[in-house]
Amino acid sequence: MPKANLDQIDRSTLLARKSEKWHTYPADILPAWVAEMDFPVAPSIDRVLRESVNRWDVGYPIAPNDTGLREAFARRMEDRFDWAVNPEQVEILTEVVQGMYLSLLAYSEPGEGVVVQTPIYAPFLSAVRETGRELRENRLTFDTKEWGIDFEALEASIDPSTRVLLFCNPHNPSGRVFTRPELESICEIVLRHDLIVVSDEIHSDLLFDGRAHIPFGSLGPEIAARTMTLTSASKAFNIPGLRCAVAHFGHRKLQDRFNTAVPRHVRGGMGILGLYATLAAWEEGHDWLNEVVSYLERNRNFVVETTQMKWPAIRCASPQGTYMAFLDCSALNLAPSPARHFYEHGRLALSEGRVFGPGFESWVRLNFATSREILTEIFERMEQAVDPEMARKAPFASP
Ligand SMILES: Cc1ncc(COP(=O)(O)O)c(C=O)c1O
Repeated sequence: MPKANLDQIDRSTLLARKSEKWHTYPADILPAWVAEMDFPVAPSIDRVLRESVNRWDVGYPIAPNDTGLREAFARRMEDRFDWAVNPEQVEILTEVVQGMYLSLLAYSEPGEGVVVQTPIYAPFLSAVRETGRELRENRLTFDTKEWGIDFEALEASIDPSTRVLLFCNPHNPSGRVFTRPELESICEIVLRHDLIVVSDEIHSDLLFDGRAHIPFGSLGPEIAARTMTLTSASKAFNIPGLRCAVAHFGHRKLQDRFNTAVPRHVRGGMGILGLYATLAAWEEGHDWLNEVVSYLERNRNFVVETTQMKWPAIRCASPQGTYMAFLDCSALNLAPSPARHFYEHGRLALSEGRVFGPGFESWVRLNFATSREILTEIFERMEQAVDPEMARKAPFASP
């Protein structure tokens, strides 16, 4: 298979994209915000999309259960994570975020509590707010080197009206990949408080340093019975515009509750190109994925080393997975917010820290899924925007 040249990304091709990352801001703004990668898609996806369009195969997809996608998902979970999944306990959705919203409608009532671990990918917070549920916030701990879970605080965030833990593993934006002991401690709390877990595992193919993903639903039958897992090929294979995702239910009862609360046509249907692309990703995309993950790992190292060397004032834990770095810029005192400052003075678009939860207003999230050349320019633009003395200032002591 020819190697994808991830170093050679043509800027004019990116600028011509109409997707959110490259089309939201003026052309002189370098975007490093929303979670899209700048790389070309895997050859297997490229081929299947071209072949489908060549025969104008853009009609109705066959009934979701007959597409073979549920079986492909089950094979993938077995092969990659040693997790035996019954394909009949899988539902096909259009997107993971849709799955989060629907899960709250299915497993809780307005006014009931949902636990979310902040900082968090913004739709976790909007899903709770916009469905009229109550946010039970469990803030991750941060000690400059690593993010962690305060289990006592997690337990304290739960009250008798709390129904769901909306979990993210690997975690966006911290980049944490939770360990088995951590997951087991969460299991104990979940069982003690009779919670349902909705586990967003969309980043599970993007792990570094030889880490292994552990699906939450694989942690034993008692946990499986209360776990709905959401995932898709959209993040790791960079096809979010094709709208196709899956939900796995660790027990039929959980699946029945979901299907009763949200019948198929309320969910909307996946597109046929999303189906073809997801199958091509999961069945034939391994070499491409391995290459991309090792490129991302080297970019991750570059981000962490550059930040430590040139920007000691910025605090950043090394991401263990995902392609996001979450940077604490509090010590730089950038007004009105670091992201706004970098936008105005560096012509660089990073994600605003405030969208990841209260208390993160002085943080920014940086997307490093791009060529090394563009990543280098991202840091150059940051440098342009900040007084060098400020950047070198030692960070304040960790709490
Ligand atoms: C944790 C997480 N879940 C879900 C999504 C979006 O998934 P989808 O486009 O399938 O809704 C993202 C995108 O960045 C994400 O980071």
